[in-house]
Amino acid sequence: MEPQLGYSAICFSEFLSEDGKIDTIERDEERIKAAIQNIKEIGLEGKINVFKGDAVDLLPEFDENYDLIFIDAAKGKYPFFLEQALRLSKVGTLIIADNVLYKGYVMSDYNKHKQRTAVRNLREYIKIALEDPKLESKILEVGDGLCVSEVISKS
Ligand SMILES: C[S@@+](CC[C@H](N)C(=O)[O-])C[C@H]1O[C@@H](n2cnc3c(N)ncnc32)[C@H](O)[C@@H]1O
Repeated sequence: MEPQLGYSAICFSEFLSEDGKIDTIERDEERIKAAIQNIKEIGLEGKINVFKGDAVDLLPEFDENYDLIFIDAAKGKYPFFLEQALRLSKVGTLIIADNVLYKGYVMSDYNKHKQRTAVRNLREYIKIALEDPKLESKILEVGDGLCVSEVISKS
């Protein structure tokens, strides 16, 4: 089993309630197959649903209020993912975004062409997370940077 594929969903599943479930999105065919295989091997196929496709297309179709939303995909889309996460949240939902400090580029004066869009959008994500009155957010310097936001209001 390749532990990295589906790893986050498998880790979060430890904290599911009896009737809880996890919805996850992946667009890469090979990664989808490997993640489904890993999830099956661990006996979690009834608990973790893998949606196939681009999150940018699929998320607007979702219509649930999740307890926890984990963002760990295309960095250039983080502000869009946050907008969707807020829509799919309720008061008390935790929105966790990985890689928000992106190798230290985000908090430095990094402005090279390569990765410029990703860095600009991660900066935008952090700004919204820290300034939106509906959110209470903290940036944690663990790994590549985690932004943990609690939804404290929906209006
Ligand atoms: C860093 S990995 C995440 C790994 C995941 N947290 C796990 O534990 O398996 C990022 C994944 O997001 C996928 N991805 C990136 N942008 C995406 C998008 N817009 N829609 C769907 N999947 C996306 C990539 O194909 C890649 O597999």
